[in-house]
Amino acid sequence: MRKIGYYRKSGELFLQNISLKKLADDYGTPTFIYDSKLIENSFYLLKNIMDPFNGKIHFAVKSNDNLGIIKYMNNLGAGADVVSIGELKRCLKVSVKPQDIIFSGVGKRKDEIEFAINQNIKQLNAESIEEIKDIIEISKDIKKKVNVALRVNLDINAKTHKKISTGDENSKFGIIYDEIVNAYKLLNEASFVNPYGLAVHVGSQLFDYEVFFQTFSKIKNLAFELKNLGFKVNHLDLGGGFGVDYAAENALNYKSFSKALNEVFKKKEFQISVEPGRSLIAESGVLLTKVIRTKSTNIKNFLIVDAAMNNLIRPTLYNAIHSIKPLKLKSDRSIRKYDVVGPICETGDFLGIDFNLQETKKNEVLAIMTCGAYGSVMRSNYNSRPSAAEVFIFDNKELLLRQREEIDQLLELDIIPNF
Ligand code: LLP
Repeated sequence: MRKIGYYRKSGELFLQNISLKKLADDYGTPTFIYDSKLIENSFYLLKNIMDPFNGKIHFAVKSNDNLGIIKYMNNLGAGADVVSIGELKRCLKVSVKPQDIIFSGVGKRKDEIEFAINQNIKQLNAESIEEIKDIIEISKDIKKKVNVALRVNLDINAKTHKKISTGDENSKFGIIYDEIVNAYKLLNEASFVNPYGLAVHVGSQLFDYEVFFQTFSKIKNLAFELKNLGFKVNHLDLGGGFGVDYAAENALNYKSFSKALNEVFKKKEFQISVEPGRSLIAESGVLLTKVIRTKSTNIKNFLIVDAAMNNLIRPTLYNAIHSIKPLKLKSDRSIRKYDVVGPICETGDFLGIDFNLQETKKNEVLAIMTCGAYGSVMRSNYNSRPSAAEVFIFDNKELLLRQREEIDQLLELDIIPNF
């Protein structure tokens, strides 16, 4: 029996001591709910693995860029991994120290690089020879030192969904092995660059121990090759990607990662950091959505709900399966097979296909589970639909983290021409 997280009391779904039905009534739907305790639990599981290595955890802000979430992660002791000036500004706004921020990403613009250097962030992860040249030029122009690590492409098959696989030479990410020595030489010769080390991230939703083992072995060997050539390689950023099992009740474990880490690295051989997103936040979140109406064909039963692919795009984009639960289990209801679909005018607008659920009626609320990562942050306004509210449950109290968007706000940026 789990002691933390979402649980049932008299058939009703609760989080900490708050009923999700009450949250749906108070904040309306669709609304994302996050549990501080599940985040904390995941953070400390990873921290215990990293501590013997003196390792540092950088929360990948792309997985959930809500200011309250970034602040909470930072309060726990996580730094941040950002991929745009926008994410960097979010971190600075909630007082994440620049020395705790890594800037990754394959297409950093010159203005983004200049801003990051001026802020004295911990490290830029460069992803191409052209980017290194830009960094060298900018740092020289503004006469400011910057730590630069090279994100390497070790041509590793991450054994994950094609759209989130980043470690092989089909992908746009990282600098290939053949170019690394030359690239490191460039860093070494530049007067305003401090060659910082290597970074790698082979993909997201990694479960396979072999993938971690291969990645860590290869990056370690490469680091020693560079050291033998006389270069300074003190930091290794091992990326994120720790898999979350969306179908399981207990979604999270770091076993494969931890085993590979302990087998490959000696304690304190390098300064190690990781940059996970999903594993820290996915499990903490649910999306509450209300049934607008029900409908059946000869072969399907549909629950048409008020959340849609603009709120949670993972099911249609990656065929991700998020489990779906009724807020109240009722013993007199039979089980039926449902497609849970949104109101958007696309057949791809679904949240779950062929789910066995208790018979569900108009106006009843469902919880779509494990939505904390790559949920709200991937929202859009397609079909002129406002984004959902976000609520954080902390110490048995509810804190609104993001207001529901108003239709009027959606119209604000368009300019009506004077035809
Ligand atoms: N570091 C880098 C360089 C990354 O590109 C990513 C994710 C991470 C860290 C964090 O990975 P995580 O620990 O969250 O797996 N929208 C997709 C996931 C895209 C991941 C992109 N990069 C999804 O919903 O599955």
